[in-house]
Amino acid sequence: MKYIKHIAIVLALISFSSCNKGDDKLAMSSDSTDTTKNVSIENKVEELLNKMTLEEKIGQMNQYNGFWDLTGPAPSEGVAAKKYEHLRKGYVGSMLNVRGVEDVMKVQKIAVEETRLGIPLIIGFDVIHGYETLSPIPLAESASWDLKAIERSAEVAAEEAAAAGINWTFAPMVDISRDARWGRVMEGAGEDPFLGSKIAVARINGFQGDDLSDPKTIAACAKHFAGYGFSESGRDYNTVDVGTSTLYNTIFPPFEASTKAGVRTFMNSFNELNGVPATGNKFLQRDILKEKWKFDGFVVSDWGSIAEMIAHGHAKDGKQAAEMAANAGSDMDMESYMYVEELAALVKEGKVDEKLITDAARRILRVKFELGLFDDPYKYCDIDREKATLGKQEIHDAVLDMAQKSVVLLKNENSLLPLKKENQKIAVIGALANDKTSPLGSWRIAAKDETAVSVLEGLKQYNGNQITYAKGADLSTGENTFARELTINTTDKSEFAKAKSVAKNADVVIMVLGEHGFQSGEGRSRTEIGLPGVQQELLEEIYAVNKNIVLVLNNGRPLALPWADENIPAIVEAWHLGTQSGNAIARVLYGDYNPSGKLPMSFPRNVGQLPLYYNYKSTGRPNEPSPGEVFWSHYMDESNTPLYPFGHGLSYSKFVYSDLAINANDADKYITVTFNLKNESKVKGKEVAQLYIQDLFASITRPVKELKGFELVELEAGEQKRIEIKLTKDELGFYDNQGNFIVESGDFKVFVGGSSKTILEDKFNLQWDISQ
Ligand code: NOJ
Repeated sequence: MKYIKHIAIVLALISFSSCNKGDDKLAMSSDSTDTTKNVSIENKVEELLNKMTLEEKIGQMNQYNGFWDLTGPAPSEGVAAKKYEHLRKGYVGSMLNVRGVEDVMKVQKIAVEETRLGIPLIIGFDVIHGYETLSPIPLAESASWDLKAIERSAEVAAEEAAAAGINWTFAPMVDISRDARWGRVMEGAGEDPFLGSKIAVARINGFQGDDLSDPKTIAACAKHFAGYGFSESGRDYNTVDVGTSTLYNTIFPPFEASTKAGVRTFMNSFNELNGVPATGNKFLQRDILKEKWKFDGFVVSDWGSIAEMIAHGHAKDGKQAAEMAANAGSDMDMESYMYVEELAALVKEGKVDEKLITDAARRILRVKFELGLFDDPYKYCDIDREKATLGKQEIHDAVLDMAQKSVVLLKNENSLLPLKKENQKIAVIGALANDKTSPLGSWRIAAKDETAVSVLEGLKQYNGNQITYAKGADLSTGENTFARELTINTTDKSEFAKAKSVAKNADVVIMVLGEHGFQSGEGRSRTEIGLPGVQQELLEEIYAVNKNIVLVLNNGRPLALPWADENIPAIVEAWHLGTQSGNAIARVLYGDYNPSGKLPMSFPRNVGQLPLYYNYKSTGRPNEPSPGEVFWSHYMDESNTPLYPFGHGLSYSKFVYSDLAINANDADKYITVTFNLKNESKVKGKEVAQLYIQDLFASITRPVKELKGFELVELEAGEQKRIEIKLTKDELGFYDNQGNFIVESGDFKVFVGGSSKTILEDKFNLQWDISQ
């Protein structure tokens, strides 16, 4: 665990006391002596709690969205006036979506200078893949399988956000999802709990660093607890109905890994789980998170999710919703107004124990102390630092590095890629090729439109070739400016002819097609996951005049592209790569970066296959018994297999796997798996070597394959290395249906290869001593 909790820190409280006027504040400031310097955060929290009224404790549990234009006068009427009043009374513990030093300073000043106790606000924001300078969307970053790069990406995001006044991000989203229809798959790490857990930890370490009080770090938030990625039929906010085994073995692991990594906050989720909304779910928040996993940070509700329990049909009114959420362990109310309005009465009526209120306030204050906000509430409010940090070169370097590592080469027939650098006529086609906003992706509230490097701009930096551009067709015909939702162009093909004539004369055609950045993300579920609008037709018409096509995909979810896979010689998965998108794509296309990404989600052949994932269970009838047999688990009209499997990704190098060996002599400690990996090509490259297991027979059936180890290996041309991956008991066991972790004796298969469609396979048998 990188972040050490409960460390005793020096609490000078100087700025805290200097800006406060009330008696209690003076009492606090008198603690700012040598004798208090070694007092732990815990003692400080208790000391403060003792001074707080019930209403002030509840105030800590209340979070408001930025509610007035801070450049204008203070609100004098309506909801905003009420919120303003609450802020001044100390009934607001946190605000979200207030950003930029000037604005954060203004609200912080009210909390610190005008309230009785002067408790600083914790300022939250969705720093999902960067603040103003954007990294690739999280799903894309996950395709790098490069934990160091992912950690670095979160680290620079934290630095930029912290410089703009933010001290808490609502990230990482660690929801596992198997359904590409769900728009929020762009925000997670894909379908696998092992990879998802590693990436969750990397992101948390990146955001929080070693020391949360460092002004360059911010508190992270593991979300959405729990099950949100399993919304039925991929429709956002929908009901979730998962079995116990899936809950413990697939959904929980990245959350548990997050607590072990010291994540300071959790967010609950919009969905219900077994009929109880997550926000009012005691099993999730108290029994599992706070008791079993011993999480000592705080849980924030999702936006309005306390009040939404009424619509769920669980709470009859706001008062009951507040009661249920507080009793279930939701510590902070994001924009429901329920706690601030109802909790005090509920305590007085004996419906909510005051101890629970104190516990929630304690958790919130603890994190504020850890952030150092009591040392200096304005530590994130340095206007010079903000100017010097936002968009600085070092941040651009990190996001470019992350972007090129996130690209996945899906197909490359006849070595069409990398492109030759000279004397080529290159046609670039597609509205997305010339788009400087879409590559920023979804969740980019603080980034300015038109700030990404477009593919066209990236390609034009290589001036040995002649580039001609034609958009072919607009992707959309307009945008709903409130929701930034696009109206997709399904009719206008008037520019096809021009694009065809450009393509006809080219040596190579680069087509940049896919989803706009606003076509994935929250509230952006889709039932068709091919190329939106007229893009598929455009692709086919261009193909009719020139088959030498490199298809560069921009998208926030797996797409189903069977025609492209069958016909187009080279396909590059470039997701939404952020600010440096065009530079990263050009570097990959020209071979200045040899692609190394691997898919973190299976790509289906057909939307009807969803949910689709590599780590499925065997059925009683998994295989076709004899050709033409009907009664086995299959579709009449589509194969069971994905178009591109989980873990798939090519390189300009050629990697060959051989000589798998398993050593189980030290099984008490670990099983050692070794194999050779050779780069049988003339170019240096990187490969993500993957190890999967199958527990063949178990008391609770296990998946046909489970990722349990991987290594990112760089090999020179012709170089061979012997790779060693150790499997521990943790990797060989699973949770039973009572939530106990068990490791059973028996036969295990081991698979190794460059994707979940593995190449090498062997077996071992384990007999555990029951006493171990
Ligand atoms: C709702 C989203 O579900 C959550 O992930 C996000 O952090 C909050 N809104 C705040 O923007």
